[in-house]
Amino acid sequence: MTQRPRRYLTTPIYYASGEPHLGHAYTTILGDVLARFHRQDGSEVLFLTGTDEHGQKIQEEAARRGVEPIELCDLMAERFKSAWQELEISFDRFIRTTEQEHVAVVQAFLQRLWDRGEIYDDVYRGWYCVHEERYWTEKDLGEGNTCPDCHRPVQHVEEKNYFFRMSAYQDRLVRHIEENPDWIVPDIRRNEVLGFLQKPLGDLSISRPKTRVRWGVTLPFDQDHVAYVWVDALINYLTASGAIHPERADGERGFDDVSESWWPADLHLMGKDIITTHAVYWPTLLMGVGLPVQRQILAHGWWVVGDTKMSKSLGNVVDPLALRAEFGTDAVRWYLLREMSTGGDASYTPERFLVRYEELSKILGNLASRAIAMIGKYRGGVVPDARGRGLDTEIEAAFEAARSAMTRYRVHEALAAAMDLARSANGYIEERQPWSQAKDDTAASQLDETLATLARVLVALCALFEPVVPAKMSELSKSLGLDAVPNLHEALSIPIVGLHVTKDEPLFPKVEPSWERP
Ligand code: MSP
Repeated sequence: MTQRPRRYLTTPIYYASGEPHLGHAYTTILGDVLARFHRQDGSEVLFLTGTDEHGQKIQEEAARRGVEPIELCDLMAERFKSAWQELEISFDRFIRTTEQEHVAVVQAFLQRLWDRGEIYDDVYRGWYCVHEERYWTEKDLGEGNTCPDCHRPVQHVEEKNYFFRMSAYQDRLVRHIEENPDWIVPDIRRNEVLGFLQKPLGDLSISRPKTRVRWGVTLPFDQDHVAYVWVDALINYLTASGAIHPERADGERGFDDVSESWWPADLHLMGKDIITTHAVYWPTLLMGVGLPVQRQILAHGWWVVGDTKMSKSLGNVVDPLALRAEFGTDAVRWYLLREMSTGGDASYTPERFLVRYEELSKILGNLASRAIAMIGKYRGGVVPDARGRGLDTEIEAAFEAARSAMTRYRVHEALAAAMDLARSANGYIEERQPWSQAKDDTAASQLDETLATLARVLVALCALFEPVVPAKMSELSKSLGLDAVPNLHEALSIPIVGLHVTKDEPLFPKVEPSWERP
């Protein structure tokens, strides 16, 4: 038996200090669309998401709310999980960094680095930004000792830290990036990382003293320190892969053989703001323990409002769940993925949201209701016995374009190709004029062919649109008399003759938005 290809996809894990917003939703939906596409295309998929729950930022937010850190984390992990469920995210595993299994893997990882002589201690003197959870040197700082990224005041710290000998892996990392041109996509991010690596790479502080941060994973070789939250967080990808078994007494803890696990990950997905941690810290840490590095990194752009990044701290966030309440889950998913060209930035505006919604309702929704109504009216709701091959060239071209775009992560292009097929099908109706064919007794077989073609194109559209609008495509498949949404391989060959179609509510009903139209 041939084995199905396997794909392990990850989103970043979200800080458990704030609510999910449209930016987080975008990363997660993008991951979900890719995961669903690969499942459609026949792969076995592990799609991972979760919450990042340790560190000073969480500790301080919990203190501000007057609760224990774990209470805050429990609450926020539920918030993220239910938001993702409401947005139809098909994650296979939701990881929390406070899980026992993860804590044990972090400790095994750090012990392994320690045993291999990859860690030393030293005194760190410098500046720390709690919000970004990172150190800055004096020359990086903005005016009045502020963080150059988020512009908040930084703290001066002088403390004992453990350091990972990251600098020793600089050359190997540069070589890896140069030899694997697709390791970081898009190119602009790859060049940015290579630019960063032109300067000498320092060593990486991997710990915080408990006197400052007590909410973290205790180092296995020093009880007075916890792991730096970014190191702890990055290791989540390894924990969920099932490669490391800290409970096994064989001493190797799975570091020397990952063949039974999902490691290495096929794709780490993230926003461009956290590329360095994923493209520099993480692979060098993996080299330090002797594990293979992740296969690919995809960094997407930002959702901005006006000219500024959408973020909680700037108070300009759009709530994906509020949009969902008004327009439905699939409308939010479609807007986010259709509107942003993967890798670039995109600006959120209510006007563009409406334009994208109307595309769904006027092109795809109308096509489905017209075709189903005509099969009902002219053939009693049963797809007639005809070849239904009137749009084969267009269907094949759309499949080809969508598959090629998806594998290059040009998701917006794949979606445009699907919508173009729906547009062509609307054009086909205008051209064939089934209402005139119905009036002409000699045109019965032509009408059969028209209706069968429309049924076939709708089946194909179900498969093409499923990754982005899964709930609606499941409704449409049911109206077409299918048991489930067909996958990309079956969609062209599914027998359509004799299918019983039923008229349902419109897929994308007219919505009067709660905001004023311009
Ligand atoms: N906890 C870290 C990630 C650790 S992964 C080992 C973190 N969390 S986050 O909650 O701040 O952000 C998570 C993701 O959301 C990032 O990929 C980030 O780029 C994305 N976004 C946050 N705001 C965004 C926009 N305005 N637009 C698009 N994505 C944005 O970083």
